[in-house]
Amino acid sequence: MSQTPSTTANRTVGIAILGLGTVGSEVLRLIGVQADALAHRIGGGIEIKGVAVSDASRPREGVDPALLTEDAMSLINRDDVEIVVEVIGGIDYPRELVLAALRAGKSVVTANKALVAAHADELSAAADEAGVDLYFEAAVAAAIPVVGMLRRSLAGDQIQSIAGIVNGTTNYILDAMDTTGADYEEMLAEAMELGYAEADPTADVEGHDAASKAAILASLGFHTRVKYDDVYCEGISKITADDIKAARTAGYAIKLLAICEKLQGEDGRDYVSARVHPALVPREHPLASVSKSYNAIFVEAEAAGSLMFYGNGAGGAPTASAVLGDIVGAARNKVHGGRAPGDSTYANLPVADFGQVLTRYHIDMQVCDRTGVLADLAKIFAENNISMRAVRQEKSGDNARLIVVTHTAREKNLAATVEQLRKCDAVKKVTSVIRLENEDV
Ligand code: HSE
Repeated sequence: MSQTPSTTANRTVGIAILGLGTVGSEVLRLIGVQADALAHRIGGGIEIKGVAVSDASRPREGVDPALLTEDAMSLINRDDVEIVVEVIGGIDYPRELVLAALRAGKSVVTANKALVAAHADELSAAADEAGVDLYFEAAVAAAIPVVGMLRRSLAGDQIQSIAGIVNGTTNYILDAMDTTGADYEEMLAEAMELGYAEADPTADVEGHDAASKAAILASLGFHTRVKYDDVYCEGISKITADDIKAARTAGYAIKLLAICEKLQGEDGRDYVSARVHPALVPREHPLASVSKSYNAIFVEAEAAGSLMFYGNGAGGAPTASAVLGDIVGAARNKVHGGRAPGDSTYANLPVADFGQVLTRYHIDMQVCDRTGVLADLAKIFAENNISMRAVRQEKSGDNARLIVVTHTAREKNLAATVEQLRKCDAVKKVTSVIRLENEDV
């Protein structure tokens, strides 16, 4: 592998890479094979000055051992390093390194969604103070250029909502469960083997990874700081093969959605909201056919209208593509001057309580099969101001299986209804409650 500077350039920008996992290795490989093309695009060359790893004695195929170091901080502080690429993952250690880099006047490219979602205020302030760039395209949906689209292309528009599938691992698992009937554990193992899942897959399956991405998207779209802790988050670990089968029969797919939107609270004020949870999506909706580890994001903007972005949202090469794009941007700014679009949180809208969100429920219950049961249940829905859109009943042993689909209502009223249903004598069991999104009614 060539890690020498391009001969076409008259100015060379030094780069440090922190981390040599799936993404870091691919970034290094691509820089090696594309050095000349990148130099033309930048108008100056780039040269890898060092790669920080946890064990520098371990040989790595195609990597010059002289580049490896275990001392990330010294590498960052080298005078000939102008751009620091953080692809380590985690929060505390990368935060320390990224802050040190920014404070030392180095531009930073990171793929670390958890870091950006938790510490964007601090990182942006450090970048502004030093007058350097903080790029993080790879932090959301890997190769899909959604960060650049929000930061640059739609910078003149008013975003209403950003919603879709932003986690490849969970989409892979749900899609495989849907198409093959395979169980969750088997598909999770496969997703990990393919390099989609985080080192600790809890972050994927419990929705934390998608929540970090939702926080970043909502912050960019609504010019308001939305942090990871502001995002309501439910994962897919409670979704059963029966849920998937029942959804399929009823004409839905189950997808883990991230939904960022502006909404009006009960007090009439404008809020932003960001949430991640499994949802039933009608089979005819484009999101239902997003398969494998693909991601898809829909943006609704006042002037642009509806936009859809689809592509590889996980994996070494797609993530490296986004990192490379950011390296080119940061290097261009080093060579020609200028800065990446900075942080914009001027709108500073309040984040809505999750209870204020508008959604619909699909409730699957086992109920007693006797006179008056439907009337008892209808009363509970009415008391909570919930309108029923569809009711389906079928015989199930001595009981009846009752499926109720509601009209749109506030989450807090829907949740209160389910609480009361669980306590109602006529209800033997609330088998599943799944939100329903993207259905035109
Ligand atoms: N583990 C993530 C996913 C990839 O499955 O989408 C990086 O965000």
